[in-house]
Amino acid sequence: MSPRQPLLMDCDTGVDDALALLYLLRTPGVDLRAVTTVAGNTDAAQAARNALQVLELDGRTDIPVAQGADTTLRGDIPEYATHVHGDNGLGNVRLPEPTAPIAAPDAADLIIATAREAAGELAIVATAPLTNLALALEREPELPAMVRTLTVMGGAVHHPGNITPVAEANIGNDPEAAHRVLAAGWRDLTIVPLDVTMRERLTEELRQELLADGSPVARFAGEILDLYFAFHAKVAFPARGSACHDPLAAAIAAGEVTPLLAPELHVTVETGDGPARGALIADTRGIHLGYPPHPDANARVVLETDGTFPARLVERLCRRDGAR
Ligand code: RIB
Ligand code: CA
Repeated sequence: MSPRQPLLMDCDTGVDDALALLYLLRTPGVDLRAVTTVAGNTDAAQAARNALQVLELDGRTDIPVAQGADTTLRGDIPEYATHVHGDNGLGNVRLPEPTAPIAAPDAADLIIATAREAAGELAIVATAPLTNLALALEREPELPAMVRTLTVMGGAVHHPGNITPVAEANIGNDPEAAHRVLAAGWRDLTIVPLDVTMRERLTEELRQELLADGSPVARFAGEILDLYFAFHAKVAFPARGSACHDPLAAAIAAGEVTPLLAPELHVTVETGDGPARGALIADTRGIHLGYPPHPDANARVVLETDGTFPARLVERLCRRDGAR
């Protein structure tokens, strides 16, 4: 049997981050070693508390959760997405108070320590603004060489942005951090942008399957999607349902979704104060205009997946999957 993939998730524990966490816990090939949180959907403390509650719902009090940055690198407080994820980040669904405390090191230190401990094998999945990773890089410039893979849910390549016409939330809420992290020279960097996460759709039928399952994890997943679906109804979703951002990135990080199209591209982030602030700029001229491959390609950018992941996610969270 091949050893399980050690993995750290850096998140801003909203609805889709919570689903991604539960998915990772239920994925037999993954050893979730640590969770770190940052301001984004909520503040970093609420995100840490949410992560602890979600882990505990699935019986895990052994995974350290560290709280990270509450402001962006330049000191701004992000506009929390309470209209998408509810006042508590978890669709206003209440879970019992966590019994486990927030871990002692801050997020950046826990990222570094977890990478060291995994001796070059750690996979990181980042589903939030990249502030914690930028701070970790400041403290440990060798981090990119110490990490096996980094998968980032963020950006919009051919798709419009979701917080401005061109900026996606995770990149746009801290463009300076994203710029530094993407340029840091990772061994294997994958970007999972809105182009694919908006097309992998959770449906009301799938939500009903979760609610009907009867297990606490599946029921919770179904309940938190209620408010999330209500938000998506206001923004371009014709039928009741939602995008599947963070779980898709988690599945790609875990090697459970193989993209249909994922070219190696050069990516960077606009950090100016104009209307393009926070845009992910991916050089797609190679795929559209036949340009030769970019000599400084720094990421694999996922541009197509087959749309079947949400059903597999739901199966994994339901009791009948047999994983638990
Ligand atoms: O743009 C989608 C991303 O922003 C997701 O990670 C969501 O949880 C929010 O953080
Ligand atoms: Ca997120």
